[in-house]
Amino acid sequence: MRRRDTLLQHGDALAGDDNSVAPPIYPSATFRAGDAGEFAEMASRQRHPRYYTRYGNPTLQRTAQLIARLEGGEAALMTSSGMGAMSLAVLSLVASGDHVVAQTNHYMGTSRLLAEVLARFGVRASFVDQTDAGAFEAAFEPATRLVVLESPANPTLALTDIAAVAKMARARGALTIADNTFASPINQRPLELGVDVVVHSATKYLGGHHDLTAGAVVCSESLVARMWDTAIVLGGVLSPHDAWLLLRGMRTLSVRVERANGSALRVAQFLERHPGVERVHYPGLASHPQHALARAQMSGFGGVLAFQVRGGYAETERLMSRLQVFTQAVSLGGVESLAAHAAVVWAGTLSDEAMLRAGIQPNLVRLAIGLEDVADLTDDLGQALGG
Ligand SMILES: Cc1ncc(COP(=O)(O)O)c(C=O)c1O
Repeated sequence: MRRRDTLLQHGDALAGDDNSVAPPIYPSATFRAGDAGEFAEMASRQRHPRYYTRYGNPTLQRTAQLIARLEGGEAALMTSSGMGAMSLAVLSLVASGDHVVAQTNHYMGTSRLLAEVLARFGVRASFVDQTDAGAFEAAFEPATRLVVLESPANPTLALTDIAAVAKMARARGALTIADNTFASPINQRPLELGVDVVVHSATKYLGGHHDLTAGAVVCSESLVARMWDTAIVLGGVLSPHDAWLLLRGMRTLSVRVERANGSALRVAQFLERHPGVERVHYPGLASHPQHALARAQMSGFGGVLAFQVRGGYAETERLMSRLQVFTQAVSLGGVESLAAHAAVVWAGTLSDEAMLRAGIQPNLVRLAIGLEDVADLTDDLGQALGG
């Protein structure tokens, strides 16, 4: 049905919609049956959009439908956060005795889920250098059932060769999950690259305004059916109010992401030329060691970049304290530009050695580019860098 930007405006429509132009919101936690026969029918169906909201709700249904279509998947499950989506996908697809292959670099919640939570239930995980497809190959074991990918990864902006790893996994009978939060479906469509499940923190680009927390899992109908029992038991259902707000945010997804792509490249080029900057990490720069891979698997390079300040931790903290247009905050993908000193963010969860192993240098700053005038963003970085 239709092209992407038309889908963004109409792809959530459901058969039987009334004549309201903006989508309705159904806050109801439960739905009335007309008679005993209908009640029995509602109760007997696994996924009914008008039975009980944890099992389904028309506002959640339309949000899921739109995200599934954007990613080119058959179906989606909405969750109350991005970690809710990742936990649901992982916990649905592994059992005690299984082995998982994942990356050294993931969003920290994903790393902890795979290393700490799974270990408590007898599931082992190996973590490999995502930039080396051969490292994935070497990590496969007969018990490997799942491969977890994140590209570009948080916060290093390193890439995984998604098609190569997904192909390897398929050949060995393992499923692949890809976290597509950083790229968004505007810049990258992992299902087309052979991945089985796409996970989003919809808190980021999909929502786009730093005003909601949500997640989504996109895959085939048969995999949704496999995840369903776990989904309703874990119970991390998205509130219909937030699903509605997410839908509203998604109307402008491509406009926001395309603008952020352009501004992030401008900021990356500015920083690359600045004497106060040691190194810039952005897949859209020709200097990114995986730029060719970025061009092959992404149609845009995203609004997030990282850079290393010339100097160390103290110089980086000084820069952070001088920023005026950038807001010092975690998260990304919203209309306001945010900056975070990565070593400060990760200090609570990783030791200094583990941080260095994960490429989080003491002078690494992550920038999430929003919709401000890009000249104000580069001016702000220029004055904060002291030049
Ligand atoms: C790549 C990535 N995946 C998942 C998450 C978790 O999302 P949420 O905070 O919505 O649970 C984040 C959050 O920063 C993220 O950056």
